[in-house]
Amino acid sequence: MKEQLPRLDANPTLRERLRPYCRLGPGDVWEDPVAGHRVGVLDATAADDVSRIMNGRRASLLINDPPYNLTVGHANTPHLSKTDLDSYLHFSWQWVSACLDVLADHAHVYVWLGADVNDHFQPLPDFMILMRQFAQVRPRNFITLRNQRGYGTQRNWMWVRQELLHYVKGDPPFQVVYTDIPKILRGYYKVVNGRRAENSERSKAPTLRPGNVWVDVQQVFYRLEENVPGCYAQKPLKAIERLIQSSSQPGDTVLDCFAHSGTTLLAGERLGRRVITFDNDPIFAEISVRRLERYRETGKTGWQWQTPFPELTIDD
Ligand SMILES: C[S@@+](CC[C@H](N)C(=O)[O-])C[C@H]1O[C@@H](n2cnc3c(N)ncnc32)[C@H](O)[C@@H]1O
Repeated sequence: MKEQLPRLDANPTLRERLRPYCRLGPGDVWEDPVAGHRVGVLDATAADDVSRIMNGRRASLLINDPPYNLTVGHANTPHLSKTDLDSYLHFSWQWVSACLDVLADHAHVYVWLGADVNDHFQPLPDFMILMRQFAQVRPRNFITLRNQRGYGTQRNWMWVRQELLHYVKGDPPFQVVYTDIPKILRGYYKVVNGRRAENSERSKAPTLRPGNVWVDVQQVFYRLEENVPGCYAQKPLKAIERLIQSSSQPGDTVLDCFAHSGTTLLAGERLGRRVITFDNDPIFAEISVRRLERYRETGKTGWQWQTPFPELTIDD
């Protein structure tokens, strides 16, 4: 029998059984003895919590992936719940303020966000307008990640996009990270060395600069090694690593206030950055720490379809 872990946030009985295996409780912070990362069970909307886990450090890169105010998979849960828009904007205002307080003078800020087509595209445009209140940061870009697998009915365009807002404070350094991103349009010809060459032919160069539409990142699903069962909101490691490489230097502090499966923690570990991260759910904080430990022990980036909690037998 395969040990599958269902969605953790939406399963109260399972959550109850997992809690004794979580080393951190509300308010606790785990200090990594190896690379100085910190993982906590804290609240992103509480400025005191954010400043406590930073412990005097300043982040030159913030990567936040808050709940999108959607009802995901028909389940409304205490940790990823849908509320009215005003409450969501209040929640957003609180975490943005708390995070801006701990940024370095020059910093990049990335925020993943969604637009609910069944609810007037909230909260993406509302969040963008809210951000105008924060004079410390200004918009730098608006990235769309194209999912390889979409969802929706035959009666609508398939939904394959994820949005990523990019802001900056001050004038932080930025390094282009070249990629194997393919050129996807055909039919654009240019004469090269007297020969007519097709656009896709010229894209064979190994050094292409990614634009702000990323079509080369596979979203996480159960067949990938990096999959963390139970964490359905997991972001691809490749996307987070691209942000870290382009927008921070080795040794910098990276902050992520919505840890979930610990993707930013793992990406920072692999790239020599110090990561400060937390989730208000002790189970996701535990998973983040376990993911880091497992990576150090085995080199594996996730559990694929095994469980992060082998202590517990999951009934079919
Ligand atoms: C969309 S997920 C983040 C996914 C993450 N980027 C990854 O790759 O795994 C959002 C996370 O925020 C957490 N969360 C919700 N409200 C929070 C709050 N006020 N403070 C800290 N974490 C919170 C949820 O428990 C959830 O794990």
